Amino acid sequence: MSKICILGQGYIGLPTALLFANNGHKVVGIDVNKRVVDTLKAGRMPFEENGFQELLDGAIAKKAFRAESLVEETDVFLVAVPTPFDSEMRMADLKYVVSTCEMNVPT
Ligand SMILES: NC(=O)c1ccc[n+]([C@@H]2O[C@H](COP(=O)([O-])OP(=O)(O)OC[C@H]3O[C@@H](n4cnc5c(N)ncnc54)[C@H](O)[C@@H]3O)[C@@H](O)[C@H]2O)c1
Repeated sequence: MSKICILGQGYIGLPTALLFANNGHKVVGIDVNKRVVDTLKAGRMPFEENGFQELLDGAIAKKAFRAESLVEETDVFLVAVPTPFDSEMRMADLKYVVSTCEMNVPT
């Protein structure tokens, strides 16, 4: 069993978190959006996706998933934040990815 920190609890990060959490891992889902974290803490999905409320319920019941705003020390970090296309530079804008690398684990 690994402790996994998934940064970004959107359409990719949250389902990934719930699949790991329902398959034997401890997952902390981190997001900078307080609404997303508060909704998950209240045990609700921040967006609709068939079958995922049940996966969230299962993960919480197993104490295998929780949502937080601050990054934590874990075995594995997985980044799932936006990478919007910058049409001027003609490449992905990596500022959100860089911002995750600059988040410090509180001491
Ligand atoms: N959604 C898709 O169908 C899809 C498909 C293939 C690839 N992707 C890629 O997956 C990645 C994530 O996309 P998505 O659709 O899940 O995005 P999303 O917008 O649904 O979710 C991203 C989340 O990251 C959060 N976030 C931003 N900065 C953060 C930070 N520093 N720390 C923690 N959280 C932060 C946002 O608040 C948001 O909740 C992107 O690179 C995207 O291109 C998405």
